[in-house]
Amino acid sequence: MITAETIEKIKETARIEEVVGDFVHLKKRGSSLIGNCPFHGEKTPSFHVSVNKGIYKCFGCGVAGDSVRFVMDHEKYTYPEALKYLANKYNIEVEETVESKEQLELNSARESLYIVSQFAANFFEEQLWNSDDGRAIGLSYFKERGFREDIIKKFNLGYSPDVWDALTQEAAKNQHAEEYLEKTGLSIRNDKGKLYDRFRGRVMFPIHNFTGRVIGFGGRTLKTDKNVPKYVNSPESDIYHKSNVLYGLYHAKKAIRDQDNCYLVEGYADVLAVHQAYIENVVASSGTSLTIEQIKLISRFTQNVTILYDGDAAGIKASLRGLDMILEEGLNVKVVSFPDGDDPDSYMHKVGAGAFKTYIEEQRQDFILYKANILLAEAGKDPIKRAGIIRDIVESIAKIPDNIKASVFVRECSHLLEIEERVLLTELNAIKLAKSKKTAAATAPKPSSFGHPDMPPDDLFAEDGPAAVPMPSAAEQISSDILQENEIIRLLLTFGHELATWEQTDNMYVGSFIIQNLSDVTFEDSLCNRVIDYYRNELEKGELPTINQFLRSEDGEIANLAITLTTSPYSLSENWLNKHQIYVKDESQNIKAAVLGGLYHLKKRKVDKMLTDLMNQIKEEKDVTNQDILMGRYAQVKNVERTISKFLGSVIVK
Ligand code: UTP
Ligand code: MN
Repeated sequence: MITAETIEKIKETARIEEVVGDFVHLKKRGSSLIGNCPFHGEKTPSFHVSVNKGIYKCFGCGVAGDSVRFVMDHEKYTYPEALKYLANKYNIEVEETVESKEQLELNSARESLYIVSQFAANFFEEQLWNSDDGRAIGLSYFKERGFREDIIKKFNLGYSPDVWDALTQEAAKNQHAEEYLEKTGLSIRNDKGKLYDRFRGRVMFPIHNFTGRVIGFGGRTLKTDKNVPKYVNSPESDIYHKSNVLYGLYHAKKAIRDQDNCYLVEGYADVLAVHQAYIENVVASSGTSLTIEQIKLISRFTQNVTILYDGDAAGIKASLRGLDMILEEGLNVKVVSFPDGDDPDSYMHKVGAGAFKTYIEEQRQDFILYKANILLAEAGKDPIKRAGIIRDIVESIAKIPDNIKASVFVRECSHLLEIEERVLLTELNAIKLAKSKKTAAATAPKPSSFGHPDMPPDDLFAEDGPAAVPMPSAAEQISSDILQENEIIRLLLTFGHELATWEQTDNMYVGSFIIQNLSDVTFEDSLCNRVIDYYRNELEKGELPTINQFLRSEDGEIANLAITLTTSPYSLSENWLNKHQIYVKDESQNIKAAVLGGLYHLKKRKVDKMLTDLMNQIKEEKDVTNQDILMGRYAQVKNVERTISKFLGSVIVK
């Protein structure tokens, strides 16, 4: 058992922002830090860390705790394992009282795998630098390839002697149990029950987890024989899960955070070469195609990924689709490709560190445009192929969760593909709509974003959390106001350029009709107000604004609103329908009902509010004359309210 004093010391020393920061990309907001919750999938951060209180809380899924709890939940550690992890991180000596034999064995099984892996790494490294074969074969190989000594040392590269059981013997001499040699895959048992080395006569790349412990190895052959596998790798074990490991992350994580970018390469050699060019924010997926876990791992440190590609076209095309996965996680993806036949490693050694760095900075392109260019070049003049590309590109764009970013790509691709933005948008909307219908069907209704059930009962995050959450009823009121205002904006953008053919309007545009009818209405939502003001200004200049003016507005908030409202045309009406039991028949067939319904509902809400206000004033007014004036005004407004109600009752079935 770990002593109480040690536990105290660990808890005092561990800083929540540092402990969480190793796993979650945290950004400062107010006096606390926020990030994407590592315990449930989310794209907008609701995971709060309070530095002062030493705790974290996710307002999305409700998890909360201190440093120890975090490590336990995140790493699936037991309490003592988590304490030891923290003690290790902060160099605190752990005092333990004697444990039972079973407990010792249980707790130390994983630990033993780490220990034997570290032992092997030391052995291989020792061989590389201090044995005749190691120096003559291994070290000279690395040097011939142009790797500097400091890089070879930094990554603890090694050499496994070309002997049947060199490591296995050495481990036995040092009292390492065979069980752990086998479980890490360092040794293999043959049919006769004898243990021998997995890695023989190879240069060794130890693989570290991101806290720096050795968890596995890649061993590269020095032979050119095609029948020998180029790399032999450690198998999966209790401490090594390939799908959530990135080679080089331990050495890269600080630079990734500082540079706010992560370079992604394919091989061990590429990681070393890029490091040697003084670019330290680089990791490799090492043999496996990129997994979702690896992407999540990167996103703990940065939202920006730059892929460094080999120059071979077939390989590039094959991996394009895999990159959509990164977009889907909300990361920004850039790409650098190298001249045909070169990978980052060979190119760095060819041109030197300085020119290499310049090259990747200058050649960096956005992934979607890069993809469009590659596909276009391939399609040539073939019109059918070109049409297929549009769908392909727009599908990538549809993966981007951020609508503003997506709209920027739509614009750029419209230039590149020589296609009207409108056409791309239509396609994008169709894909997004299909997707949202799918997810809506698949997921249960979410709790309202107001008044989250997991809100802390005390003022845990009073300093910065979403503390100013209104009471449910007030929240409903506000959300409903904004919903109605958004609905008007949607109608304005969707039908503004149609003719309002109903009788009293003298064939004016729907846009003008709506704006005219809003002359006596102030919106609660300032963003909606900005849209209305802009629209009104344009009309006064004699222009009828097009939807594109909003979709590509310089005001990012306006663009985002316009995209959201017009991208999923029916989501709002569905909401509307559920909330107010209003039945709107296929609205493009009946623009009149949609527009008048929207306007009158909004007006009724405003009028109701006026009536309440007036009634309150009347109650408080002492002066009889003034009271009379107010009563007269009340009667007028009440009349308006009756007209509106009557209209709503007749046109739209409640
Ligand atoms: P590469 O063939 O590009 O390897 O494979 P590399 O690291 O650049 O090696 P050099 O330059 O030839 O020395 C990319 C990655 O794929 C995995 C390794 O992780 C390698 O780094 N791989 C490749 C294997 O696991 N096994 C193999 O046989 C080949
Ligand atoms: Mn290579």
